[in-house]
Amino acid sequence: MTHQFYHVRRWRLFTFLLACILLLTLASPFQTAPVRSQDDNPPYLNPDLPVEERVEDLLARMTLEEKVGQMTQVEKNSINPDDIGPLGIGSLLSGGGGYPTPNDPENWYQMVYEFQNEALNSRLGIPLIYGVDAVHGHNNVVGATIFPHQIGLGATHNPALLEQIGQVVGQEMLATGIPWNFAPVLAVVQDLRWGRTYESYGQDTALVSELAAAYIRGQQSVGVYVSAKHFVGDGGTVWGTSTTGNYMLDQGVTEADEETLRAIHLAPYQAALDAGARIVMISFSSWGGMKMHAQSYLINDVLKGEMGFTGFTVSDWAGMDQISSNYYDAMVTGINAGVDMNMVPYDYHRFINTVLDAVDQGDITEARIDEAVRRILRVKFEMGLFENPFGDDTLLADVGSEAHRELARQAVRESLVLLQNENTALPISEDATHIFVSGMQADNIGLQCGGWTIEWQGRAGAITEGTTILEGIEAVAGENTTVTYSPAGNFDDMTDASGNPVKAEYGIVVVGEAPYAEGLGDVENPTIARNHVTLIEKMRERADKVIVVLVSGRPLLITDVLDQADAWVAAWLPGTEGQGVADVLFGDYPFTGRLSFAWPRNLDQIPYDALLADAEGPLFPMGFGLEQ
Ligand code: GLC
Repeated sequence: MTHQFYHVRRWRLFTFLLACILLLTLASPFQTAPVRSQDDNPPYLNPDLPVEERVEDLLARMTLEEKVGQMTQVEKNSINPDDIGPLGIGSLLSGGGGYPTPNDPENWYQMVYEFQNEALNSRLGIPLIYGVDAVHGHNNVVGATIFPHQIGLGATHNPALLEQIGQVVGQEMLATGIPWNFAPVLAVVQDLRWGRTYESYGQDTALVSELAAAYIRGQQSVGVYVSAKHFVGDGGTVWGTSTTGNYMLDQGVTEADEETLRAIHLAPYQAALDAGARIVMISFSSWGGMKMHAQSYLINDVLKGEMGFTGFTVSDWAGMDQISSNYYDAMVTGINAGVDMNMVPYDYHRFINTVLDAVDQGDITEARIDEAVRRILRVKFEMGLFENPFGDDTLLADVGSEAHRELARQAVRESLVLLQNENTALPISEDATHIFVSGMQADNIGLQCGGWTIEWQGRAGAITEGTTILEGIEAVAGENTTVTYSPAGNFDDMTDASGNPVKAEYGIVVVGEAPYAEGLGDVENPTIARNHVTLIEKMRERADKVIVVLVSGRPLLITDVLDQADAWVAAWLPGTEGQGVADVLFGDYPFTGRLSFAWPRNLDQIPYDALLADAEGPLFPMGFGLEQ
């Protein structure tokens, strides 16, 4: 009996203790449920109120620490998730290659979802805004649809297509929970030796403005916000003026006078703002004797004043640090110059503490902090981030879908520019018996995608899903056509019954550039590689009609070898849908692409103003493109 009684008494004690623990937990000041404010329905959480009312209500509730937290953007591998809530971190990013492991859309969604939950559990529950460089598709994500880089889209001259691409890329981003794109680049490139030439729509301000506006309209129509970048004059730097590593052009000095800067480089920003851009990324480059990140006149007076920009500016990757070797001075100067959010991206504690110290010292006023945070909150409210902080995982099924890839294939077709077509080389007949193909770029997804693909610098190989140019040729060629591929152009074993070398009706040589990004792609002599010329010479011996397809991030100097092939096609960096190239080579679709850059004859015609001054004119003028 005693035994049984003992059990009953112990059970009562256990129940009593459990009740005490529960009571203590509920009353505990360390509860984890999001406690956004004392009243359950504060005005800032009411989506029916005007944005400005929500901004002012929320700003009034924030501590100085929480305000500076909103101005802080941290790279996702550098953040301690436990800091997001307490510090009120406003933004995270994935830099080029900043993917989760495994790298697939579902895992991306999960990663961003977990970070966002930390932010929603902050005292005021302000959602963070997650940003990526989706510069030619959601290009860090394996399986995403990768479109031609902007230089190819520039050759399409098709704003309606750009608007569709903006929508599709935005949908694939939202599928992974990401509402902020560090794109499009608005650079109007003056020197194609720049490693970011391919990130630009071209060399003509009006074309850049028109295509950027279309892309922005498309992307923001699905709820993803763009960043017009890099403000301002990034495409106008002068060779040898960069002080970053061994860069020569990237992050250099834009030596244009103000009138030229406004006419060539600033105009696209007005088009971008008119199209709805609410975020502007500041350029690493310099103008007027100072780093753009310190350029108060252009950021505060021109962008925010004269142009009436009411969104927010974000620095480039540690861009403010370049202002001065004294970190305190650099942060003070950059923030007072008008940089609202700092892409730190690593040591966020140092940034936050430095700014708090500067406010304490009076070097940054709290009014300036309030102005920056007002702008950030305004955009977050406009985006609906408080109502939907998680994107839309129902779109996951559409990432890399057939429909999206078909749009990318269309973009590839329309990006191709026919530079020369002699000996009726093109279109290729489907009745051909033999087609020989050579060149590494023919059968390599990584090479045809270029930089900013899965990895920051991109890389060769089967880095993601897609169709190579060769696979496209094999799929479109006639059923009686034998397609033979030799990367090195060796077709010695192709002989007839008598052992004589077979000569193909068509020889396609696919060559160009290896992947690169930013200043690592700055090149002194952008000429076609000697070993690629050798491939053309070898093909000349083995095919009746020789076609060169250039897979490159810029026009290459080909003047001296032009006559060694019958046809030349600029394919730029087509992305994952390589079969778009074959669609046009075989005549299933016409060539419609037209150059968005003038094609120089020689080095003396680089940069652009040297070409304009040369009476001989370019090898191919801007707007050039044969139809057949
Ligand atoms: C890079 C680039 C910028 C990019 C950012 C985040 O350095 O300059 O275009 O958006 O860092 O990856």
